[in-house]
Amino acid sequence: MSRPEYTAPPEVFYNESESRKYTSSSRIQHIQASMTLRALDLLALPPNQFILDIGCGSGLSGEILTKEGSNVWIGMDISPSMLATALDRDVEGDLFLADMGNGVPFRAGSFDAVISISAIQWLCNADTSAADPKRRLARFFDSLYSAVRRGGKVACQFYPKNDEQTSSILAAAKSAGFSGGLVVDGEESRKNRKYYLILTSGSVGADDINLDGVTVDKQKAVHRKKGAETRKDYIKRKKDVMRKRGKLVALDSKFTGRKRKTKF
Ligand SMILES: C[S@@+](CC[C@H](N)C(=O)[O-])C[C@H]1O[C@@H](n2cnc3c(N)ncnc32)[C@H](O)[C@@H]1O
Repeated sequence: MSRPEYTAPPEVFYNESESRKYTSSSRIQHIQASMTLRALDLLALPPNQFILDIGCGSGLSGEILTKEGSNVWIGMDISPSMLATALDRDVEGDLFLADMGNGVPFRAGSFDAVISISAIQWLCNADTSAADPKRRLARFFDSLYSAVRRGGKVACQFYPKNDEQTSSILAAAKSAGFSGGLVVDGEESRKNRKYYLILTSGSVGADDINLDGVTVDKQKAVHRKKGAETRKDYIKRKKDVMRKRGKLVALDSKFTGRKRKTKF
């Protein structure tokens, strides 16, 4: 089946009937809920956070934000039909219509955290001859960096078409000023592989993000304050990461897909 991103622009693809079909599918409900839970698990947020959900759709990811940790959230999406379905479902979040490729239109430091589930791969597409994916990615990540408070966190689960798309996304996030990296769950199975871009907007210690069971591709994947970790903590962390649930690739390392060698 052809990917939605290559079928039509998102606001056309997610029309009234597609939005209803998407939202009522129990398979999709389950997948979106489990990926949102995984994103929150990686972010290890305290309760009662103010969160932006980018590409919120009909609110499947947003519902999890409400259930987990009593967060308050705002959802942004380009599809009027998806937002209308969210309204019909009476979701808790406030909703607004916007194209993330034009930037994240909020005051500096507005959010404690941002999530985006299955949406940012759309930015890699040129829907018109005037659209420039590189510029849209840059505008998105630059404005996202500003919208998150200093030390705030971002988790974007996305479906890259290929390694080039992943590299472009990592490069745009890095150039905006973020630190962090890419967690790849289920690396061994192409079908089940999931990509989570985990970012922080300040120099936050690695312990602020939950990397339990994640293999670290490069030691400086998440910038660590000097002297913040004891030897005992270091050994514990190394043992934890060997449990190998996923793999973390640093923002400043070249993404080379499965051929990449894991270094410690
Ligand atoms: C697969 S749906 C995911 C919806 C929701 N996050 C969930 O968990 O069910 C992807 C959403 O991204 C939105 N989207 C795609 N491109 C966008 C853009 N440029 N700006 C804002 N939203 C966009 C689509 O309209 C769609 O609602």
